[in-house]
Amino acid sequence: MEYRVTPAASLRGHIRLPGDKSISHRYAMIAAVAEGASKISNYSSGADCHSTLGCLRSLGIGIDVDGSTVTVHGQGLDGFQAPPAALDAGNSGSTIRMLSGMLAAQPFPTTIGGDESLSRRPMARIMAPLREMGAELSARDGKYPPLTIHGAKLRAIQYEPPMASAQVKTCVLFAGLHTEGVTSVVERVQTRDHTEVALKAFGAQIEKSGPVISLHGRPLLTAQDLYVPGDLSSAAFFLVAANLLPGSKVVIEGVGLSPSRTKLLDWLLGAGAEIRLMDVGQAAGEMVGTLMVTGRQVRGGVIEGAMTAALIDEIPVLAVLGAMSQEGLTVKDAAELRVKETDRIDTVAENLGRMGVRIATTADGFHVPGGQRFRGAEVDSFGDHRIAMAFAVAGLAADGETTIANPEAASVSFPEFYATLERLRD
Ligand code: S3P
Repeated sequence: MEYRVTPAASLRGHIRLPGDKSISHRYAMIAAVAEGASKISNYSSGADCHSTLGCLRSLGIGIDVDGSTVTVHGQGLDGFQAPPAALDAGNSGSTIRMLSGMLAAQPFPTTIGGDESLSRRPMARIMAPLREMGAELSARDGKYPPLTIHGAKLRAIQYEPPMASAQVKTCVLFAGLHTEGVTSVVERVQTRDHTEVALKAFGAQIEKSGPVISLHGRPLLTAQDLYVPGDLSSAAFFLVAANLLPGSKVVIEGVGLSPSRTKLLDWLLGAGAEIRLMDVGQAAGEMVGTLMVTGRQVRGGVIEGAMTAALIDEIPVLAVLGAMSQEGLTVKDAAELRVKETDRIDTVAENLGRMGVRIATTADGFHVPGGQRFRGAEVDSFGDHRIAMAFAVAGLAADGETTIANPEAASVSFPEFYATLERLRD
């Protein structure tokens, strides 16, 4: 399949986005081990979050889906049943890494794998702490999916992940739910804190003291009615598109504004973007609000250190913005980009190159000089949702038509992306 993008003059209109992918996964998993039926509204329409529901169903959890409202019939901390077959996490790193924390505590073995991209993603990062807690795990070549997890009665540990990863933190905390003690994760570089916020909303005792997050095991988790805010990482595509097309004005309603995610907004504002925040409120401890972006050329800048970890998912589309900024974009400390759904340093560089844009890559980042123009070209998603969407945005500002091969990759996080983009064309 191919998707054609023709240049656009500007984008204008109001949109609402599907529920945040990170929050949807967490609500579904925690609801499954809570007592009673949780109703989750605005659950992500993305295939990744539906892979999580599929895995939970295979573990014996009743789940009703009615549009974007999902009801999860939680069975408590000991309610999973041995699945009839291997669990399929599809393309979803979040599903395999976070759910493995819960699987490590089950009295039965489970195998969990996924698609070709997922089968190349590193799992040693969760295998090490789960082994330390007492589970037995094996993996293809010792480190890749599928994983086979022989659960055990786990012990609480204190763990410091060697990389900034919310998925690893969550895996350890989810395993910690099943222990008798206090499980701690030491986080030197802060990552998204949706797990901590969600566990608290379901009734767990979880505290943060400096870099140490501590969870008391065997909490009584009770079912909740929850609303998932719109996904800020999906909003990023429209924030960037508006800034590539001066004269644009886009209002994005009901977006999640967790302070652990809004470094994206800080960075854009620091680079000269005009973004207004309105109607800020809360839903189950998560901040929500409306964003209004008025398009104008931004200065560009550097993303490094803790900032890189905080907006890691937005870097592909920010690379696109960097090319048309005044001063360009430099990204450092981003080795994690090489182990996402694709090697995003390589796939961004490949597509920018096809569109006639210069980029210099390094082992853990890149530099895109500013003041460049996109040439319409044939690009490829390489099966990566964020690459598909980033280059659809580039196509809007290109000279001539752009075609994207394998555009359907976008559906793992945002199936409505192309239709939403079309609606905003002026
Ligand atoms: C996520 C954490 C990040 C992010 C991913 C979602 C999460 O991954 O890139 O899209 O929901 O916890 P890492 O934990 O691997 O950094």
